[in-house]
Amino acid sequence: MAYAAACVALLAVPILAQYPEGSLYSPPISSGYGNWSAAYAKAHAFVCNLTITEKVNLTTQTGTGASYSYSLGIIPRVGFRGLALDDSPTGVRSTDYTSAFTAPLNMAMTWDRDLIYAQAYANGAEHKAKGVNIAYSPVVGPLGRSPESGRIWEGYSPDPYLSGVSFGLTVAGMNAAGTIAVGKHFVLYEQEHFRQVREWNDWHLPNATFNTTEPYSSNADDRTLHELYLWPWYDAVHDGMAAVMCSYNQLNNTQACQNNHLLNDILKGEMGFQGFIVSDDGSQHSGVLSALAGMDMTILGETSPNGELGLGISFWGPNLTQSVLNGSVPEWRLDDMATRIMAAYYYLDQDQDFPELNFAQGDLSTFGYLYPHAMVDYQQINEHVDVRDHHADIIRRVGANSIIMLKNVNNTLPLNKPKQIAIIGEDAGPSIYGPNGCSDRGCDNGTLAMGWGSGSTNFPYLIDPLAAIQARALQDRSVVQYVLDNYDTALIDSVVAQATVCLVFINCDSGEGYIEIDGNYGDRKNLTAWMRGDDLVNEVAGNCSNTVVIAHTPGPIIMEPWIEHPNVTAVLMAGLPGQESGNALVDVLYGAVNPSGKTPWTIGKQRGDYGTDVMYVANAPVPQLNFTEGLYIDYRHFDQAGIAPRFEFGFGLSYTTFSYSNLRIQPVSGASPTTASAAASSAQTTVNPSVCPRYALNASAYTFPSTISSLTDYIYPYLPRNSTFTVGPAYPSASVIATSPGTPGGAPALWDTVYTVTVSIANTGSVAGQEVAQLYLALGNGEPLRQLRGFNKTMIQAGASADVSFTVRQRDVSIWDVPSQSWVDVRTLGTAVGVSVGASSRDLRLNGTMAAVGGVGSGSAAGNYSASVTAATTSAGGPAVTEYSDGQLQVPTEYSDGQVQVPASATG
Ligand SMILES: *[C@@H]1O[C@H](CO)[C@@H](O)[C@H](O)[C@H]1NC(C)=O
Ligand SMILES: *[C@@H]1O[C@H](CO)[C@@H](O)[C@H](O)[C@H]1NC(C)=O
Ligand SMILES: *[C@@H]1O[C@H](CO)[C@@H](O)[C@H](O)[C@H]1NC(C)=O
Ligand SMILES: *[C@@H]1O[C@H](CO)[C@@H](O)[C@H](O)[C@H]1NC(C)=O
Ligand SMILES: *[C@@H]1O[C@H](CO)[C@@H](O)[C@H](O)[C@H]1NC(C)=O
Ligand SMILES: *[C@@H]1O[C@H](CO)[C@@H](O)[C@H](O)[C@H]1NC(C)=O
Ligand SMILES: *[C@@H]1O[C@H](CO)[C@@H](O)[C@H](O)[C@H]1NC(C)=O
Ligand SMILES: *[C@@H]1O[C@H](CO)[C@@H](O)[C@H](O)[C@H]1NC(C)=O
Repeated sequence: MAYAAACVALLAVPILAQYPEGSLYSPPISSGYGNWSAAYAKAHAFVCNLTITEKVNLTTQTGTGASYSYSLGIIPRVGFRGLALDDSPTGVRSTDYTSAFTAPLNMAMTWDRDLIYAQAYANGAEHKAKGVNIAYSPVVGPLGRSPESGRIWEGYSPDPYLSGVSFGLTVAGMNAAGTIAVGKHFVLYEQEHFRQVREWNDWHLPNATFNTTEPYSSNADDRTLHELYLWPWYDAVHDGMAAVMCSYNQLNNTQACQNNHLLNDILKGEMGFQGFIVSDDGSQHSGVLSALAGMDMTILGETSPNGELGLGISFWGPNLTQSVLNGSVPEWRLDDMATRIMAAYYYLDQDQDFPELNFAQGDLSTFGYLYPHAMVDYQQINEHVDVRDHHADIIRRVGANSIIMLKNVNNTLPLNKPKQIAIIGEDAGPSIYGPNGCSDRGCDNGTLAMGWGSGSTNFPYLIDPLAAIQARALQDRSVVQYVLDNYDTALIDSVVAQATVCLVFINCDSGEGYIEIDGNYGDRKNLTAWMRGDDLVNEVAGNCSNTVVIAHTPGPIIMEPWIEHPNVTAVLMAGLPGQESGNALVDVLYGAVNPSGKTPWTIGKQRGDYGTDVMYVANAPVPQLNFTEGLYIDYRHFDQAGIAPRFEFGFGLSYTTFSYSNLRIQPVSGASPTTASAAASSAQTTVNPSVCPRYALNASAYTFPSTISSLTDYIYPYLPRNSTFTVGPAYPSASVIATSPGTPGGAPALWDTVYTVTVSIANTGSVAGQEVAQLYLALGNGEPLRQLRGFNKTMIQAGASADVSFTVRQRDVSIWDVPSQSWVDVRTLGTAVGVSVGASSRDLRLNGTMAAVGGVGSGSAAGNYSASVTAATTSAGGPAVTEYSDGQLQVPTEYSDGQVQVPASATG
C-alpha cells in the first residue's frame, strides 16, 4: 500500500495542457474526494501496475464483433476478467427473464422518493444479477425542453428540481444494488432530429434540400445551462454518480464528447465528478481531442466522416496506444482515464462477488458463437437466469401511484360494482404480435406500456387493461363488453349504448431517432392522440353518458377536443407503466389505491402554447438549436407569458380532499448565506505530471502479440505486428497549471439547509389518501415567477392531519452568476424570497417570505437577466471557433486526428 499511497500523493492536481497550437485543455486528475478515497487508493494500485496496452483495454470497447462477452477491460496478466455494459432505464435490454419496469416518467409522476428509489434499486439488482457492471441509466437529457422530444419518457420532468431529485435517487438506488449507474446524456440533447448525420441523411430525410454535415449544436447561455440543464447533474454527482455518458449533440458547435469546457471544467471541475465519462454509440468524433477534453471510455465510435459505425475500428484502441506513445496524449491522461474507470468499479464494490456475465446481449439463443463475426467459440451463450425477484410488486405500486387523475365528476371513480362495462380502444388490449413483437418496441400495437428505442427492454409478460379489468369485474358480476378496433364506429356505438360505464383507451408514442413510426422520427410530430384517438373519445362520449378516458402517453397530449365534453366524467393519465399496466390501472379504477400522481409537465391547450418545439427542418448543414427561451420552458414559460394551461404543472386529483394551514418558515440557526463558489480556490502550480511509474518503452510490448490470433471486427489495443514507432516528446512541454477541482456536487455550502418550511395538511374527505404538497419559491432577479423547490408526499387518514416539512438548501435560493462563475444566494442581493405552498403550481394555498439578508456576499448577478445566445453559427458547415464564457479557452471544432501515424521511424 505504500506504493499506492505514493501514487495517490501526486494526484490532487488537475493540469492545463497546451494542445494543439495554442488551444488549452484542462483535464483534472481526480484524487478521490470524500467517500471516494478508498476506491481511488485501490484504483491507483491497480492501474499503476498496468502497461499502456492494458490501460487502453480498459478504455475501449472491443466492438460489435464481440457482443457476447465482456465489453472491455480484459487484462489476462493480472487476472482481470473485464467489464460488461448494457442498457437500459426500463430494465436489462434485449434479454430474457428480466422485468419490464415502468418508464422513468412514471417514477416522476409518483413524486414519491421511496418508490423512485425502490424501482431504481430493483433495476440495478437485475443488471447485477445478469452480470452487467455498467448500466446506461438513468436519463435526464433530454430534460424536456419540448414536449415532442422523443426520449422524454426515459427521463422525468422538464422541471430541474423534480428531475434532479428523481435522477439522484435513481443513481443512488442502482448504485446501492451494485451496478454502476451511467447518467446520460450530457447535455442539451433535447431532440432526436439531426442528432447523427448518418441517421438523418441516409435513413430518414433523403429528400432534404441539403444534408447535415455535423450533429446539431445546442446553444444555450451559461445561466440557462446551469439553472435548468445542469441542475439535476449536480444532484446525481452529489449522490454518488460514478459514470456519465456524453451526448450526440454539439454545444456551441463543439461536440459534447470533445468539449473541454463542458467535460473538464464544468463536470469534472466545478461539479467535482469523480467517475468516468463514456461516449454514446457514435457520439465520439475524434481520438486525441476527446481524450484531452475529458472522455474516459469509448463504446462504438464513429470513425467515418458520415458517421457510420466502423466495424473493428476505433478512435481509440490502437489509435490511443499510438497517441500515447507519440506524445499526442499524455500518459497521465491515460492513467487518469483508467483510474476513474477502476475507481467506479471499486466504489461499487464490484471486486467482491460480482456475478459472471450470463447472457448474450441481443440474442436469446442458448448456444451461439462467443465471437459472432469471427464465428468462433461456439458455446452456451445464455444461461437464462431469472433475475426478476419480487419486482412485479414494485412495478405495480409505481404504476398505480403514478396514475394522474385529471377529472372525476360526481365521484365517477372509483368504480362501484358497475353493472355493465364497455372497454373501447386498441390501447386496452393485447397486441396481435405479442408484447415484444417489434424490435426495440418500435411500433404501437395493442396497449402501450413502453416507448421505443435503446431505452426499451423485453416484456416477460404484459398485463393489458382488458385482461385485468375483466378479472376484477368478475368479483362484482359485472358484464364486460369490448371493442378493440378504433375504426369500427358502428360496433362501438352499439356496445357503449348498453354500458353503465365506458372506459375508452387512447395513446401516442415516441422514442429514439433511429426508428420511425408513421412519420414520427423519434420525436412526436404532434401532441395529439394516435389512431383517431380524439374522434374515438367523442364517438364514445356521444353515446355513453359516463365516459372515462385512460391515456398511455410518453408526455403531455392535447385534450381540448373532448376534455369539456359533459359525458367525459373522468380522465386518467397512466404514462408508460411497464409489465403490470392493467393491474396498476385496476388498483386505481376500483379504489384499492387512491390516485396520487401529479403532472410532471404542463398540459397545454394547444401545441404552440409551449413556446418551444423540436426543429424538424434543418436550418443549416450544422443545425443550430438556439435555446433563446432561456429559463422559460414548460410552466416557467406559461407563467411568464400569461398563458392558461388546461392542467398546470403539479396537478392531480384524489378520491379525497386536503386543506392546507399554518405555514411556518423557519431559518436554520447558524446557517449564514454565503456566495457558494462552484469550485474551490484555484492556484497556479507547476506539477510533476507523472501519475504512475513509467515502463521502459519497448516496441514488442505494443505490437500485436504472436500468441493472439486476431478476431474479425474485434478491437485490440495493439499496433500492427512488426510496426515501429517514434516515441514522442515529453508531455506536456509547456508549463502546467493546477486548479483544485470541486467536491462532488460542487461547493459543499450549496447543500446546507438554510430554512425549513412546514405546513399542516388535513384530509377533509372520507378516504385515506396521499397528498403531494409542493413548495414554490420566487427568487426575483429576472428568475421565473415561481419555481419548484420542494415536494413532500404524505399519506393522511380520513379526518386526520399531518405536519409536512420541506428543507430549503442554499442552492434552492441561489442563482448562477455568470461573471463570478458561482452560485449566489439571492437573499444576499437584497431579495426577499417569496414562498408558496400548495397542491399544484397554480393552486397555491399559503404564502410567505424569507427575508433578505444584508452585507453578505458580493454577487454581481444580473437583475436584468435575459437569455442571450451568441454561439458562433456556421452556415457552410465549416470549422467554427467557440469562445467560452470565461474567455480562457479556444478550441477548434474540427481537428483532423493526427494520431493515426502508424508507423513512423523505428526507435522502439
Ligand atoms: C486486451 O483485451 C483482449 C481481449 O479483448 C485480450 O485478448 C488481450 O490480451 C488484452 N491485452 C492486454 C495487454 O491485456
Ligand atoms: C502487479 O500485478 C502482478 C500480477 O498480478 C502482481 O503480482 C503484483 O503484485 C502487482 N503489483 C502491484 C503493485 O499491484
Ligand atoms: C422522398 O421522395 C420520394 C419520391 O418523391 C418519396 O416517395 C419519399 O416518400 C420521400 N421520402 C421522404 C422521407 O420524404
Ligand atoms: C443526402 O445524402 C443522401 C445519402 O447519402 C443522398 O442520397 C442525397 O442525395 C443527399 N441529398 C442532398 C441534397 O445532397
Ligand atoms: C456557449 O456560449 C454561450 C455564450 O454564447 C455561453 O454562455 C455558454 O457558457 C457556452 N456554453 C458552453 C458549454 O461552452
Ligand atoms: C484510427 O482512427 C481513424 C479515424 O481517425 C480510423 O479511420 C482508423 O480506422 C482507426 N484505426 C484503427 C486501427 O482502429
Ligand atoms: C353531478 O351531480 C349533480 C347532482 O346530482 C347533477 O346535477 C349533475 O348533472 C351531475 N353532473 C354530471 C356531469 O353528471
Ligand atoms: C401496428 O402498428 C403499426 C404502427 O406502429 C401500424 O402501422 C400497423 O398497422 C399496426 N398493425 C396492426 C395489425 O394494427
